[in-house]
Amino acid sequence: MIQSHPLVRIADDSLALACGADAVAAVFTATGCTVERVSSWGMHWLEPLVEIDGQGFGPATPADVPAILAGTSAKAIGPIAAHPFLARQQRLTFARAGRTRPLSLDDYAETGGWAGLKRARAIGREEVLAELITSGLRGRGGAGFPAGIKWRTVAEAPGTRKYVVCNADEGDSGTFADRMVMEGDPFLLIEGMAIAAHAVGADRGYIYVRSEYPHAIAKLRKAIGLAILHIAPFQLEVRVGAGAYVCGEETSLLNSIEGKRGEVRAKPPLPALEGLFGCPTVVNNVLTLAAVPHILSAGGAELYQRLGVDRSKGTMPVQLAGNIRHGGLFETTFGMTLGELVNDVGGGTASGRPVKAAQVGGPLGAYIPPSQFHLPFAYEQFAAADALIGHGGVVVFDDTVDMGGMARFAMQFCAAESCGKCTPCRIGSTRGVELIDRIRAPTPATADAVASLPQMHNGRKSGRSREEELQLLEDLCETMQFGSLCALGGFTPYPVRSALKHWPEDFEPKA
Ligand SMILES: Cc1cc2nc3c(=O)[nH]c(=O)nc-3n(C[C@H](O)[C@H](O)[C@H](O)COP(=O)(O)O)c2cc1C
Ligand code: SF4
Repeated sequence: MIQSHPLVRIADDSLALACGADAVAAVFTATGCTVERVSSWGMHWLEPLVEIDGQGFGPATPADVPAILAGTSAKAIGPIAAHPFLARQQRLTFARAGRTRPLSLDDYAETGGWAGLKRARAIGREEVLAELITSGLRGRGGAGFPAGIKWRTVAEAPGTRKYVVCNADEGDSGTFADRMVMEGDPFLLIEGMAIAAHAVGADRGYIYVRSEYPHAIAKLRKAIGLAILHIAPFQLEVRVGAGAYVCGEETSLLNSIEGKRGEVRAKPPLPALEGLFGCPTVVNNVLTLAAVPHILSAGGAELYQRLGVDRSKGTMPVQLAGNIRHGGLFETTFGMTLGELVNDVGGGTASGRPVKAAQVGGPLGAYIPPSQFHLPFAYEQFAAADALIGHGGVVVFDDTVDMGGMARFAMQFCAAESCGKCTPCRIGSTRGVELIDRIRAPTPATADAVASLPQMHNGRKSGRSREEELQLLEDLCETMQFGSLCALGGFTPYPVRSALKHWPEDFEPKA
């Protein structure tokens, strides 16, 4: 039996809300309990997760409330912090997840908030840059570029006006860590941006968030208002994007903030030298900036660079999604194998069927078969296997997935999201869809049947054999990879080629 009117903690981020957290909270309130809305622990399959005196109950429904209060609930999971999913993690960026109220300045300060910014201001710019470089922090948005080098370039660039821009477009499939930071620990991101501004000499910053994240936008705006005195003279504003995947590409994002069409800019010049409104600009992902306050706290940089493997330093908030039993946020040092993440941590597929593939790194990431699950989760190790870790999203598929269809989808996605600036991506992706359709089309039985098929979509009417069509697909992939202006066209070949390589049978003509 739980005490009569306990303090009940329930998350209020979009995932918890989508799972019905408000309705559960309302029933607890109606019974006279005090309900505190906190950030999510990141154990998504258990949301709405109810916490009372450190004990967890989930996924809870309004009907579960009486049993939870009576201490007889079958949804009890024991002490939350000791749950194996959490106990295996090394949380730095997500150290506050589940533990604090997102918009409470008191909670933030009591858990070490603002210490990094205070120290950064005390030790001076040069030392901040040196510590960031020492930490080995690399950009978590996808490209993995060393954050300290980028900051130093902006700091040393000539110009009186400089900007810090946070890329919170979070367009990759299966990713949600940026959203969790913005909704669960917004002051952390704000502090990271204020440290960046101090280090490079910027007095203005923007957080570019996609419009599909209304809760994140609202929380950030409130948090910026509350934090204003802590970060002054740095001024911060939220800008809302319309949700085009390509607007996550940094130069396209800058165009979008400037009120222009979200079209990719040719590089050089790098945004670090000529970015927003032509001024030197730091563009960093949410997770990159959110790692900074920890790194700038005393001893943080040294600790960070001791974690991980090779040039993949520190921790990575891995996001387990798709057809997976235990989907959620798993922050770990680099180096865990993909198999450990998918099978041990994630518990395999939610459907209970065998895992067929995991797509890592968003829609442009390679499909990885279980035979390669020994790969350590790290930048170089994935690159050596023609894969990428991107923003750390892992999307799992069971054996019912049609990989030929997924390869087609990659081309289709590229065609739909292309900014249209360069030919390999704009035209190549559409030709790619047609090619895959031809490769998978059934061979027409008769000449009459061939003649009746539409020009571009019949198996043999193109005049090429299936083998020649496959070679053409490979040539197209090569052209897109090396001829595209940005990674949207350039990386689309990764999912296509990996699907073709590991599951050629899924490209056989469909009856
Ligand atoms: C098509 C495309 C989409 C991208 N989407 C995102 C995104 O949603 N979020 C992000 O942080 N980076 C995204 N990037 C990477 C950014 O261009 C850039 O590398 C990143 O914002 C730099 O920050 P970082 O160094 O902290 O990773 C995307 C790149 C491309 C080519
Ligand atoms: S690769 Fe695609 S998205 Fe990138 S610049 Fe070219 S057309 Fe635009």
